[in-house]
Amino acid sequence: MNAPSTAGRSAVAGPRRSTPKRWLGALVHLGALIPLGLFALDTALGRLSPDLIRDVTLRTGLAALVFLLLALAVTPVVTVTGLAVLNPLRRWLGIYAFVYAALHLSIFVAIDYGFNAALLADAVLMRPYALAGLAALAIMLPLAATSTDAMQRRLRRNWKRLHRAAYAAGLLAVVHYIWLVKVGVIDPWWYAAVLVGLFVLRLPPVRRRVSALRKRQL
Ligand code: HEM
Repeated sequence: MNAPSTAGRSAVAGPRRSTPKRWLGALVHLGALIPLGLFALDTALGRLSPDLIRDVTLRTGLAALVFLLLALAVTPVVTVTGLAVLNPLRRWLGIYAFVYAALHLSIFVAIDYGFNAALLADAVLMRPYALAGLAALAIMLPLAATSTDAMQRRLRRNWKRLHRAAYAAGLLAVVHYIWLVKVGVIDPWWYAAVLVGLFVLRLPPVRRRVSALRKRQL
């Protein structure tokens, strides 16, 4: 979702991409195929759930959340490690989060509900978890649409403000997950803890302190 910084952009998107940046980019594209690879593997090994629609819904939802958290993790990881070479990865991680979330919703709308508008309206309005998921996706859509260099230049400062909403999308996605699991299932709380940790590391005073500590270690 977040596009790379100007410094990263010239090296990654332009013709003069350095080799490590190109490899890192390729790694993200390959990583984006992992959920599909696991699906193919589980199909081959007969490990899919008998409720295939639910199985695929859960897989795409989880992939969307993981990629969203990975996109949000780039800045804190750069703050801690100083590896600015990672900055450009944010954009594709965010885009893959959106792609999996869109796939997740498409399965829900097209396969699960057969495009039945009345049933869909009922499902979304009557189930708070679906509403939270929809809100997360509604935030992710403009972030994905404005993730290009051209949009970043056009929106200038507003671009940064807009892309901070990725945290709101993360929060809503985690709330969506917490709401849909049975009470006592702790899986979504791990994702919530990661999100809180990333957010804390992003706070300017914490970020400054971590950067200062890192520079002192060098
Ligand atoms: C309109 C938008 C959305 C709808 C209608 C929706 C609907 C659903 C449904 C029906 C399930 C399966 C519930 C079950 O059978 O247990 C689910 C699971 C899930 N969704 Fe969504 N979702 C939406 C958006 C999102 C978004 C944007 C994300 C993440 C960025 C997301 C992440 C997840 C996760 C992590 C799970 C649970 C996966 C698991 O249990 O392994 N969803 N969603």
